[in-house]
Amino acid sequence: MVPLSRVATAVDLEWSDWIRSGSWQQSADTAVPMLPANAQEIFLLAMDPDVSTARIISLVSKDPVLAVRVVQLANSAFCASAYEITSINQAVVRVGTGLVRNVMTSTCMASLAADTHLYGHQGRQCIAHCIGTAYLASFVAEGAGETAAEAFLYGLLHDVGKLLLIKLAGEAHRYGVAPPGDDELAEVLTEQHSRVGAYLLRQWGLPARLMDPVLWHHEPDAAQERPQAAAVAYAANRLAHRYGVDCELDDFDPLADPHFARVGIDSAALAYIDLKAPGLLEMARHSKG
Ligand SMILES: [Fe+2]
Ligand SMILES: [Fe+2]
Repeated sequence: MVPLSRVATAVDLEWSDWIRSGSWQQSADTAVPMLPANAQEIFLLAMDPDVSTARIISLVSKDPVLAVRVVQLANSAFCASAYEITSINQAVVRVGTGLVRNVMTSTCMASLAADTHLYGHQGRQCIAHCIGTAYLASFVAEGAGETAAEAFLYGLLHDVGKLLLIKLAGEAHRYGVAPPGDDELAEVLTEQHSRVGAYLLRQWGLPARLMDPVLWHHEPDAAQERPQAAAVAYAANRLAHRYGVDCELDDFDPLADPHFARVGIDSAALAYIDLKAPGLLEMARHSKG
């Protein structure tokens, strides 16, 4: 029996219990990573189908890292330009506004995990997996009656909760909690990352439409608001594991999974995705620089 006079503190807690209890959220001011400058504007712009090329050029021009990345992409073998592209205007037109938007949001996500002290190899791998999943999600969305640009975003954000959990593990001592062992961290990452990801989206003020597919990307049937978008996120993540996109390879049969049928993936569609996947994943590699 714990004496009534003894008040539980974080020191009494295992890291996993501290995470599961949600009490770490009381330290959200220090725990939650800041979104990079411009990120909210970039995410909103990426969801806006009517955004003008001029507005995209203006946003790219404000960010030197982004500007260099878009010009590099325009001059890459991928875009096969016949002449050298030296201005942002030319580069945006050459690359196309859809792909530029993807590069903008991918760059935001990659810069989030740039602090290797906090996120280490696992963080970089998580971001690479998220960017690959984003390209797969936008591809799957087209056959599932969902918006490709939006699917790119929830694909990009689907595992973002893992980043915060990795950070909270590395900083455990700061909150008076013993750092977790590898097995404890792995178990909590699997169990809690979707919930923590949805929490991050709220904290960052990102559009509520992105919440359901992030929260339910492992259990799309549980999604209340947007089950079809959650199914797209689910299928894109499983496909990322089919191709080993910075994650464990999973040798499963998509055609035996009813969620794949739900997003319109039959044997012909799967053969087409298998054919297109290497090109999509090559684009994902270009996006993160
Ligand atoms: Fe996940
Ligand atoms: Fe994932």
